[in-house]
Amino acid sequence: MLSALIGAVLLGTAAAAPAQIPLAANLSAGVAPTARPRPLVIWHGLGDTAHSEGMDAFADRVRELYPGIYVHNVVAPRDASASDESRAGWWGSASGLGDDVCEQLGEIPELVGGFDAIGFSQGGLFIRYYAQYCNDPPVRNLITFGSPHFGIAALIPCPDPPTLACTLAARAAKAGIYTAWAQRNLIQAQYFRDPARLDEFLLANEFIRDLNAEGGLDDDGEPTGREHGGLGLSGVENVVAIAFDEDETVVPGLSAHWATIDPDNTTAVVPLKEQQLYAQDWIGLRALDKKGRLHLETCPGRHMEIGGEGECGDKVLQSVAAGAAVAI
Ligand SMILES: *[C@@H]1O[C@H](CO)[C@@H](O)[C@H](O)[C@H]1NC(C)=O
Ligand SMILES: *[C@@H]1O[C@H](CO)[C@@H](O)[C@H](O)[C@H]1NC(C)=O
Repeated sequence: MLSALIGAVLLGTAAAAPAQIPLAANLSAGVAPTARPRPLVIWHGLGDTAHSEGMDAFADRVRELYPGIYVHNVVAPRDASASDESRAGWWGSASGLGDDVCEQLGEIPELVGGFDAIGFSQGGLFIRYYAQYCNDPPVRNLITFGSPHFGIAALIPCPDPPTLACTLAARAAKAGIYTAWAQRNLIQAQYFRDPARLDEFLLANEFIRDLNAEGGLDDDGEPTGREHGGLGLSGVENVVAIAFDEDETVVPGLSAHWATIDPDNTTAVVPLKEQQLYAQDWIGLRALDKKGRLHLETCPGRHMEIGGEGECGDKVLQSVAAGAAVAI
């Protein structure tokens, strides 16, 4: 039931969410701020670009449902050409890309009072990076579709036909996913969490390990502590994490809900609530859950099949607009 939730979440009718202060309001003159839809930032998925046909169509749909809303599609790295942007989904530093966008979002005047954020797939990890390590201006509600929040245990398959960036990255990954080189240069290596090689992962990985405040190991294999999760997510108003029930692209598909593969039984998937991440509340998910602000939702279909008008992704948006209770 995304209903009330996304109602609060996305954007908000004036009733559902705190009024945002529009730019036009002259605060020093004491002009009363007028409620308007909260701005929205969207971070695209792997291989996609900020202004692909699909991304622009999604943003247009949001504008149709919320006249006057400010929507920003993240360009990462900023000012990149579409081909460089697509390539950056495979190659480069995940935290470097995150830092780039921290700067980008910090300079957009329309976002100054905070914004809601949607991350598609891999983009959901990056927008989390923003929320946990920058968050100025703050993310109010965080919505992710099919994001591998607790990493992937297998590489994401290349598109058909495969792009050169993907083919070469997959080849390089096979040569050693936890090498220092791969961890600096291959995006998927930076969220590859192999249940059969957890010690290597904890030693070599930084990006997804720290995003979940999992803590690393020192050279003697001793835990280094969990201080690296940044702000965590407890300051976000709502986290809405949407999984796809036939997702075979992300392994395990329920990583979208912070599930992982059981290291002692690779056919078993351990749900969030049975993880220490939750029990010890490493990044604030448990606290959010206790307040009814953690929403683990499911869309039917394969990875990122959010569908067209009237289908799952659109219902998420529409249920807000109509103020209606829609279960997805
Ligand atoms: C805001 O109001 C102040 C005080 O009335 C005025 O001096 C200033 O020029 C106004 N700023 C804008 C951008 O209108
Ligand atoms: C491993 O997990 C699967 C799926 O949950 C379960 O059916 C099976 O019994 C488990 N195997 C062992 C040895 O625990």
